Amino acid sequence: MEKSIEQIQSEALKELETASDPDVVKTISVKYLGRKGKITQLLRSISSLAPEKRAATGQKANALKKALEKTFEDTLKRFETETTGAEDRIDVSLPGRPVVAGSLHVLTQINQQICDIFTKMGFDVAEGPEVETDYYNFEALNFPKDHPARDMQDTFFVSDNIVLRTHTSPLQIRTMEKQTPPVRIIMPGKVYRCDSDLTHTPMFHQVEGLLVDENISFGDLKGVLTAFVHQMFDERTSLRFRPSFFPFTEPSAEVDILCVMCRGDGCRVCSQTGWLEILGSGMVHPALFETVGYDTRRYTGFAFGMGVERIAMLKFGIDDIRKFFENDHKFLRQF
Ligand code: DAH
Repeated sequence: MEKSIEQIQSEALKELETASDPDVVKTISVKYLGRKGKITQLLRSISSLAPEKRAATGQKANALKKALEKTFEDTLKRFETETTGAEDRIDVSLPGRPVVAGSLHVLTQINQQICDIFTKMGFDVAEGPEVETDYYNFEALNFPKDHPARDMQDTFFVSDNIVLRTHTSPLQIRTMEKQTPPVRIIMPGKVYRCDSDLTHTPMFHQVEGLLVDENISFGDLKGVLTAFVHQMFDERTSLRFRPSFFPFTEPSAEVDILCVMCRGDGCRVCSQTGWLEILGSGMVHPALFETVGYDTRRYTGFAFGMGVERIAMLKFGIDDIRKFFENDHKFLRQF
């Protein structure tokens, strides 16, 4: 009899081990603890034992019954709390979740390209304040007070003498004040003008360039800007220097490139002219050298300033400048 108690116990536990779901556990439970179950029968048979054996065997059988009941209960509970795993299983046939990688904003990319081209030619990069004094933004750049050229730059005033810089040209003065020639520097940054339409936003980006040394001529300006345009666009892109006016350069020129869309035939992008304006430039006005204390007989130099948005618009055929700032992924993802 004792042997059969132990046998029943080990059988029951073995069966339970292989039980794969709660229903199987219930079936096993009935098989042992049900009305006709093995343990129930065992308990019943105790009365037929010799009286001196009944107590000990009864105790043992009852203990087994309790233990098994507890084991079945625990196993069922475990099934309840544990998932079967089916819902966690990986379905390898499903398409993977895409990993969305970030990328640089198109304007950052173009800005970096512009800076790269010039740094490879030996220019250093400098930056300066966006909130600027009237002195650096206008006065030192040869814009006298009440000069009509100030009207060209729709200025945001912080106070009478403080403005949001309207261009990166103030950095020419800030650089020359700190440095003696030779100067070879490009200056990227945000600029602000009270203007807003398809091709203007109140904030935009410029890159300013300045080179000062002995014997610098307009030919050097043409050479450097031609090398720049050929790298930024391509070698087939011709340039045209058109006389213009800026208070801080003399002579001054605006630079046009052959229309990247129609290659000069005339189209909507170039307003049928075949040419696109990309930057302002010129030979540094001697008045600036006097202001910063450079010897005007010894040094000459050239300067230029370009809009980053404008270059990006021409390069990619974008017709609305506001697209750069709407943060629409469908637009930005293309670059
Ligand atoms: N600062 C001018 C503007 O924002 C652009 C410019 C023109 C910069 C000629 C220059 C230059 O350095 O030489 O309209």
